[in-house]
Amino acid sequence: MRRLSATPALGQIAGMSAATRLIELPRLAATEALAAAVAALARSGDVILLEGPLGAGKSAFARAFLRAASGDPALDVPSPTFTLVQSYDTQIGTVHHFDLWRLDGPAGIAELGWQEARDGITLVEWPDRLGPLRPDDALRITLDINGEETRRALLSGWADRLERIV
Ligand SMILES: Nc1ncnc2c1ncn2[C@@H]1O[C@H](COP(=O)(O)OP(=O)(O)OP(=O)(O)O)[C@@H](O)[C@H]1O
Ligand SMILES: [Mg+2]
Repeated sequence: MRRLSATPALGQIAGMSAATRLIELPRLAATEALAAAVAALARSGDVILLEGPLGAGKSAFARAFLRAASGDPALDVPSPTFTLVQSYDTQIGTVHHFDLWRLDGPAGIAELGWQEARDGITLVEWPDRLGPLRPDDALRITLDINGEETRRALLSGWADRLERIV
């Protein structure tokens, strides 16, 4: 017999962090504003995992994060699709932008300087490639495409800071 139970609130689902936020992003500028808000709260040692399908806006988020962190709205942020990681000296410390789409498996991540990068701030596209190296205390941002210009972001983690993100 099926047991009737109330739908669990987001954040009470097993395996999810207690802190979650769902944010509508009706245009690219909203994604950029979210990235700037996250950058304003980020500090050395943080890992930000960017999930979602091709074209969801992971790189757009990373670019806006790096521009905000650098105080340079024109900063060139090439996609690290081939180099897999690109590092930047910013006003909030060194930020490492990983794109692990082409990574074969967690073994290759050490050669990219994953451990050393943890001293700075780390942004990761395709973080499923991290396997067991995925940090528990990361901010996880899952972007969904729900229209040509519209995205939805589910944020989880950063229980101490999440409510300060606009
Ligand atoms: N609300 C929005 N937020 C983010 N990007 C948007 C939005 N609306 C439209 N876009 C467009 O969607 C595209 C997102 O591409 P982007 O390269 O950031 O995706 P991605 O998730 O990094 O994909 P990939 O997995 O291929 O690296 C860009 O062309 C961007 O201009
Ligand atoms: Mg990308």
